[in-house]
Amino acid sequence: MSVDGKIAFPEGKPARLSNEEDLRRVHALRAGSDAILVGVGTVLMDDPKLTVRREYAKGRSPLRIVLDSGGRTPRGAQVLDGKAPTLIVTTEDCVRTFPAAEVFRCGKEEVDLELLLDHLASRGIRTLLVEGGSAVIWSFLHEGLADELKVFVASQALGGKSTPTLAGGEGAATLAGAVRLAFSRMSAVGDGVLLEYAVVR
Ligand SMILES: NC(=O)c1ccc[n+]([C@@H]2O[C@H](COP(=O)([O-])OP(=O)(O)OC[C@H]3O[C@@H](n4cnc5c(N)ncnc54)[C@H](OP(=O)(O)O)[C@@H]3O)[C@@H](O)[C@H]2O)c1
Repeated sequence: MSVDGKIAFPEGKPARLSNEEDLRRVHALRAGSDAILVGVGTVLMDDPKLTVRREYAKGRSPLRIVLDSGGRTPRGAQVLDGKAPTLIVTTEDCVRTFPAAEVFRCGKEEVDLELLLDHLASRGIRTLLVEGGSAVIWSFLHEGLADELKVFVASQALGGKSTPTLAGGEGAATLAGAVRLAFSRMSAVGDGVLLEYAVVR
């Protein structure tokens, strides 16, 4: 994110905030995870590949997971390119199938994250990297389903009142509803800073 907490440009247009050192960190994190997860909002805005890029890290690309209640992932999306395994997670009522991806259906209004994590655990997935976007990060934090939060802070301010921030969703209405974090580490990453927290439950 930027120093003012933004993770994109206004209206959600993608912004590359990572510097080269941070890209190496992110791709090493991906390579060390069993799966990487994003919401369909990120797929529609950024069309990410979600693979491990060889110039930044070694290792195979993990399972790519998209939270997509109504099956809105476009046919031409890069997560459907067959270059790494992909799991699209829809709600129970969605009937859409995808050419190069497996589908798991759980939840009524939106994807039920606890059921999804149980399913992933049953197939041996132990380390899940949640990359975004704003709504999905809030869901994992708010539902107490994240163990750690790692935030790279780029030395830039983006501004913009409609610009997505690190955690969106409904947000906390009072301090009692805030997600509590325990600071664990701070380090310089090129010209930016990496902040690491444990999530308090
Ligand atoms: N700087 C970065 O590192 C970074 C990384 C990733 C994304 N981004 C930015 O984040 C923005 C996208 O964020 P976003 O908030 O619009 O979308 P998002 O968090 O990527 O996806 C949210 C969507 O996921 C679906 N979903 C299904 N089950 C869910 C659940 N249990 N909890 C939350 N969402 C669920 C919902 O759509 P349905 O109802 O259709 O299922 C929801 O609208 C883009 O601007 C992108 O550039 C930045």
